[in-house]
Amino acid sequence: MNVIFLGPPGAGKGTQAVRVCERLGIPQISTGDILRRAMKEGTPTGLAAKSYVDKGELVPDSVVIDIVRERLAQPDCQNGYVLDGFPRTVPQAQALGEFASIDAVVNIEVSDEKLTARLSGRRVCLSCGGTYHVSTLNGATACEKCGAELIQRKDDKAETVLSRLAVYHAQTAPLIDYYAQRGLLKTVDGAQPMDACTAAILEALGEAK
Ligand code: AP5
Repeated sequence: MNVIFLGPPGAGKGTQAVRVCERLGIPQISTGDILRRAMKEGTPTGLAAKSYVDKGELVPDSVVIDIVRERLAQPDCQNGYVLDGFPRTVPQAQALGEFASIDAVVNIEVSDEKLTARLSGRRVCLSCGGTYHVSTLNGATACEKCGAELIQRKDDKAETVLSRLAVYHAQTAPLIDYYAQRGLLKTVDGAQPMDACTAAILEALGEAK
C-alpha cells in the first residue's frame, strides 16, 4: 500500500506514520527527517536546505522531488510506504504522479490553535527521530528509546510556527482538493487521542483489526 499522510505542521503525521508503518511493515519516508539528517551531516543537500527549514519555508520542489524519487527506488519500498510530509505543493504532487502510484491519501485535520500548543511543547531526538511532548515527559530530558538528549527544533519556536502554518495554508492545503478530485482522500480527526487517531487511520485504510 502506497500512502500519503497530509496535514498541517504538528497534526501528528510523524507520530502516526511510525505507528502505522510498524503495523503494516512498510517504511516511513519523512522528507523533514531526511532533510534534518542531511543538515546535521552537512551534506550539500543539507547546506542548501538549512536556510529554508530554519525559517519554516519550503525547500525548493526540485530538491525534495529528487530526494523522494531516489528513496522510492530503494528495495524496501517495493511493498509499500507511507510518505510523511511529501508532497507539499501541487507541482510536487504532479511530479510524484509520474514516478509512483498512490493508493490513499490520509488528511489529518487539527485546528491551528491546537497545533501551536503541540509544536511549542514538542521535543525531539535528533539521533533516532523519537518525538515527545513536554506535557508527558515528566521533566525527562533524554530519549527513552536511545538515551540521546532531547531538543526543541529550531523551527518550533513560536514565530517560525506561525510562518509554517501560513505556508501550509497557502501551498499545501490545496492538495486536499487535488486528491479529493482523484478519489483518494480519507480525512481523519487528528485532535483525538493518539491511539484513537491510529485506529481511525487504520480503519480509513481498510486495515482495522
Ligand atoms: P517536517 O518535519 O515534515 O515538518 P511538518 O510537516 O511541519 O510536520 P511536523 O514534523 O512539524 O509535525 P507532524 O505532523 O509530524 O507532528 P508530530 O507527529 O511531530 O518538515 C520540516 C521542514 O522541512 C519544513 O518546514 C520544510 O522546510 C522542509 N520540508 C519537509 N518536507 C518538504 C517538502 N515536501 N517540500 C518542501 N520542504 C519540505 O506531532 C507534533 C506534536 O504533537 C508532538 O509533540 C506529538 O507528541 C504531539 N501529538 C501528536 N499527535 C497527538 C495527539 N493525537 N494528541 C496530542 N498530542 C499529539
